[in-house]
Amino acid sequence: MLDFKISKLSDCFGIEISDIDLTNEFNNEDINILKRLFFDNHVIVFRDQKISEQQQLAFTKHFGELEVYPEADKTRDSQKTYHVANVNLDGKHLTDKDEQVIFQKVNQNWHTDSSYRFIPSYASLLYAIEVLPDDAGGGETEFVNMFEVYDSLDNELKIKLEPLHMVHYYEFGRRMFPNLPPVSDFEKENIPPVSHPLIRLHPDRHNSRSLFFTANAGNEIGGMSQEKGSILHKKLVAIVSNSNFKYKHRWKKGDLLMWDNRCLLHRAVSYDMNKYRRVLRRTTLAGTSAIKGPFLDPSII
Ligand code: OGA
Ligand code: MN
Repeated sequence: MLDFKISKLSDCFGIEISDIDLTNEFNNEDINILKRLFFDNHVIVFRDQKISEQQQLAFTKHFGELEVYPEADKTRDSQKTYHVANVNLDGKHLTDKDEQVIFQKVNQNWHTDSSYRFIPSYASLLYAIEVLPDDAGGGETEFVNMFEVYDSLDNELKIKLEPLHMVHYYEFGRRMFPNLPPVSDFEKENIPPVSHPLIRLHPDRHNSRSLFFTANAGNEIGGMSQEKGSILHKKLVAIVSNSNFKYKHRWKKGDLLMWDNRCLLHRAVSYDMNKYRRVLRRTTLAGTSAIKGPFLDPSII
C-alpha cells in the first residue's frame, strides 16, 4: 500500500507528492491510486526523484502507451524520450543560436504536446536534471486549466466557437523561427495537418467541455478566412494568457512533473539561455482516441 504526503500546488489545480520513490515496484492498486489523483488534479509533481532514462520510461509505461516521436533524430538514445535542454547529450552548453535550443523556444507558446497528431498526447512527464538557480528569472513551466477557461467565456463566444475547428500542423512551429530547418519528407508524410474541434468534449467526464487550441502548431480556423481566423486565434491566446486559472511551476532538481494534455495548455517561460543551463527529460503518453467536438452526437448539444 502506498504511503506518501500530498499537498496542493495552487488553488486551481495540481498536487505535490513527496515521500515516494518512483523506482519502486508498483502494483495495480498503487497505480490506480495515482491515476485517480492524476485524473482529479491534472498535474502531479513528484519531488526528490533520482531516476535514469530507463526508470522514467518504466514508470511512464504504467499509465499507458508511449508516444514515439515521428521527428527525425531528436535524441540520440531513444525515440521515446525527448531532451528538453539547452545542453547537448555530451554535456556541452549550447548557445541560443543552436537548433536544439531554438526548438525549445517553440514551446514558449501555449500548447499541448502533439496537438498536430490526429490523436494528440494524453499526458507528459518531465524530469528535472539541471535547473536554474533560485535567483534567476524565468525557466518555469506554466499551465492553465482549460475547463475553467471554457466556463469563464461569455455565452456569445461559446456559441460562436461551438462548430469551429483549428488546423494544427507540425510545420507551423518551424516557421516561427526561420533558422530552423524545413520539415523533412519523412516528417511530412508522418504528420500531415489535422483539424481538431475548438471545444473539446471529455467523454470520461460526462462530456464536460474545455477549450482546445494551441499557439505553436497553427493559427488557422477551418472555414474562416486566414485573416479572420487568426484574429479569433489571437483573441483566444489573450484570454488564456490573462486568465486566473494558471499554475507556474518553478523547477527543483529531482522533480518529476506529470501533466494532463487533454485539459491543460502549457508553455515554457523564457530565461537567459546563454547564461543558464536547463536540462529536462520528457516522456510522453499517447492519446487513446481522436478529439470529440460537440457536434459529434447531436443529442448532447
Ligand atoms: C515540453 C514543454 C516546457 C518547458 O517539453 O513539451 O513544453 O518548460 N516544455 O520546457
Ligand atoms: Mn510541451
